[in-house]
Amino acid sequence: MNEEPTLVVSKIRNGTVIDHIPAGKALDILSVLGIAGKEGLRIAVLMNVESKKLGKKDIIKIEGKRLSPQDVSAIALIAPTATINIIEDFAVVEKYKVTVPNIVVDVLACPNPTCISNKKGELVRTRFKLVSGNPLKLQCEYCGTIISGDEVVKFVIKRK
Ligand code: CTP
Ligand code: ZN
Repeated sequence: MNEEPTLVVSKIRNGTVIDHIPAGKALDILSVLGIAGKEGLRIAVLMNVESKKLGKKDIIKIEGKRLSPQDVSAIALIAPTATINIIEDFAVVEKYKVTVPNIVVDVLACPNPTCISNKKGELVRTRFKLVSGNPLKLQCEYCGTIISGDEVVKFVIKRK
């Protein structure tokens, strides 16, 4: 009787559930995944719902979507507590926690316009070294430019 009201959202058949997202970060994650809502994917976004581990959390359920390794790295930079659940025929067939790699390859664009990784015609994949986890700091291996946690969303390379 004294229980908090819960927000009931249906299970998905096939796709990906990104769970244990820090409260308030779901929209940043949709942004780095390049999802604006016009793609026609069926998506449920839950924000500020009760979590035993985190107090409050966000959840994103995306029907029919598989994440690339770059997607998972980008999620880890924004939501280090996130869990990825792969759903097939309503069952969780794979579950893992995201991790921030020590070298983040081909996920972030360098903010420095003169960096070799921004030269047209050069097929250089961007490489950022994790110099600090909390607060988050990443450094371009080519030019030394630093990206901090609050800038990550701005510099994630959007792909389709
Ligand atoms: N989920 C879903 N559709 C399914 C299966 C699971 O949307 N067909 C969602 C659940 O609602 C939950 C997440 O995927 O948000 C993980 O599901 P599950 O492993 O069953 O839940 P928990 O055991 O509570 O997960 P955890 O231990 O990671 O907290
Ligand atoms: Zn650079």
